[in-house]
Amino acid sequence: MRIRIITLMLACGLFASCTQNLTVSSPDGSIKLALGIEAGRLNYSVTVDSASVILPSPLGLVSDRAVLDRDFKVAAISHSTVSQTWTSPWGENKEHLDIHNELEAKFKNNDGVVLTVRARAFADGIGFRYEYEVPGPDSLRITDELTGFSLSCDGTSWSIPGNFNTYELEYRTLPISEVDNANTPFTFKTEAGLYGSIHEAALYDFPEMTVARDTSGKGVSFRAALAPWPDGIKARVSKKFHTPWRVVLITRDAPALVNSDLILNLNEPCAIEDVSWIKPQKYVGVWWGMHLGIEAWYDDGRHGANTANAIKYIDFAAKNGVEGVLFEGWNDGWATWGSGSVFDFTLPAPDFDFEKVVSYAHSKGVNYILHHETGGNIPNYENQLDSALNWAAAHGIHAIKTGYAGRITGGHQHHGQYMVRHYQKVIEEAAKRQIMIDAHEPIKATGIRRTWPNFMCREGARGMEWNAWSAGNKPEHQTILPYTRLLGGPMDYTPGIFDIMYRNIAGNPNLKAWNGPIATKCRCNTTLAKQVADWVVLYSPMQMASDLIENYEGHPAFQFFRDFNADCDWSRALAGEVGDYIVVARRAGDVYFLGAVTDEVARSIDQPLDFLPEGRTYVATIYADGPDASWETNPYSYEITTREVTSATVLPLRLATSGGTAIVFKPKD
Ligand code: NOJ
Ligand code: CA
Repeated sequence: MRIRIITLMLACGLFASCTQNLTVSSPDGSIKLALGIEAGRLNYSVTVDSASVILPSPLGLVSDRAVLDRDFKVAAISHSTVSQTWTSPWGENKEHLDIHNELEAKFKNNDGVVLTVRARAFADGIGFRYEYEVPGPDSLRITDELTGFSLSCDGTSWSIPGNFNTYELEYRTLPISEVDNANTPFTFKTEAGLYGSIHEAALYDFPEMTVARDTSGKGVSFRAALAPWPDGIKARVSKKFHTPWRVVLITRDAPALVNSDLILNLNEPCAIEDVSWIKPQKYVGVWWGMHLGIEAWYDDGRHGANTANAIKYIDFAAKNGVEGVLFEGWNDGWATWGSGSVFDFTLPAPDFDFEKVVSYAHSKGVNYILHHETGGNIPNYENQLDSALNWAAAHGIHAIKTGYAGRITGGHQHHGQYMVRHYQKVIEEAAKRQIMIDAHEPIKATGIRRTWPNFMCREGARGMEWNAWSAGNKPEHQTILPYTRLLGGPMDYTPGIFDIMYRNIAGNPNLKAWNGPIATKCRCNTTLAKQVADWVVLYSPMQMASDLIENYEGHPAFQFFRDFNADCDWSRALAGEVGDYIVVARRAGDVYFLGAVTDEVARSIDQPLDFLPEGRTYVATIYADGPDASWETNPYSYEITTREVTSATVLPLRLATSGGTAIVFKPKD
């Protein structure tokens, strides 16, 4: 690791007038953030190449017990520079570059409140956070956040609505000025041609931030909107506290958003000493049958997680080099899901011989992935957390999928401070027992995986499940996710449905509708090759092949998943436009993978393979849409071809409507 931290200046004393120094620029000088004070109130603005991108926008928090937002004067200013590389045990990349300049600006007001605004400028955006020291009472109630994001011009945006309980909403493409409220990452392209995304980093012990349109602000303006407690208070903090980072990614093209490390760089280094047990992995599971409605989570005669089925899945995983198997419905309590949700996390279902299944899995070298659905009943889960995690650890289990599908007890919202604390508690308690977490219905990803790398992935957007019981995810969905939701971190989307139109369950006597239309009236709105490409495009260190295993048995395209490696070392988004398409390359060891997906528009892309090392020949196995493929009329059509390539090759990719291409590149010798 190379670290260079230089404190350049500690210039201004208490109450000195030194507003001229309240700026910080990216190392290349192109992005500049300037703080300002107007009548004791703080603001910030951002320029790129001297042109305004964010007009002066308010800063600060509001409390009912202290003055946190006004009467400020400059107390002290310092600047520093960081240039370092750091490594992570897993990720799209294992090596990261953190080069930024920092401004630490301390302000003090008449009430003795000290507010430090710590602002950092990177080549691909800015981040700042508030650090408060408040004299007087030990604790404070935050009633509002004033942070504004006043964009200097309009443009196009991609977002889901701001909602404090769910991220499982459809993405909207709207003029920025027509967005009433949005969850973050809130991604946009300005009329000036810049790409950006508003988000937050290192969200701990604070509610999530969404943005709400502020028509009284300058330009195209938004304000931070925090998820409240049931009594309306936004956050409960101590007298000395800091907020998560408020972030605006700013890049010159869409792939650069995806390639940014800024969110991770704003998080603290790893807090777990021994990370040897944290292992990216591929998995299959007893899962899709329940979503299709041909199996159930509890024993109504259609119980998916029965011992015989579990053994079948373990055998399949062992035979196909799939590292993990998830079993949903293994425990007691599913009959109460949605009506109290009183799950027992150490009591297996009567027809699920847990001891036998877990020891069989381990004897086959397969990881048992445990499932903790809470249904939103937090007291019930927290009461059992220690015993449940100890029990899992005692059985040699290192991965748990958690779930919060249901209303949170006590009137809390999924994304409020109470739940942010809860999710973090689970991560830290799991880490103590060497357990990785994959959280569904989670809090959004803000890069804390750098500090807590046992937080592998989460849901937090419409995943595959929606295709089983609704009109499904639109063809453009997978071309928006990488530029929005995935900017925060990996998603457990659970790709890879090969029986796209659910032909193989037609006439199944067990089939029942359970959460919307019956599955046979639904479908996946993609081609088969796009399902394969999603394994590369939708990065997750726990990557699932989510279909029923019988749909993979003997299917030539499943060879891609056998060859795929969830433990990648390096990644690069090579080309793309938000909501249209994306091409991504990844490397694991000396094998490269490429994934390309498109929206409802068929596309031809001539893709240079200059990411391959020079002077080496690779054998590329290409999983592509068939010439007659189309997601609507012919989604099953695909072809597998092989050819030799080098870094000088320009490979033509032909994507059908809502289609894709997936490629494995193995060194020839
Ligand atoms: C919702 C999750 O997203 C899904 O994966 C899971 O199967 C169900 N809840 C049940 O826990
Ligand atoms: Ca879900």
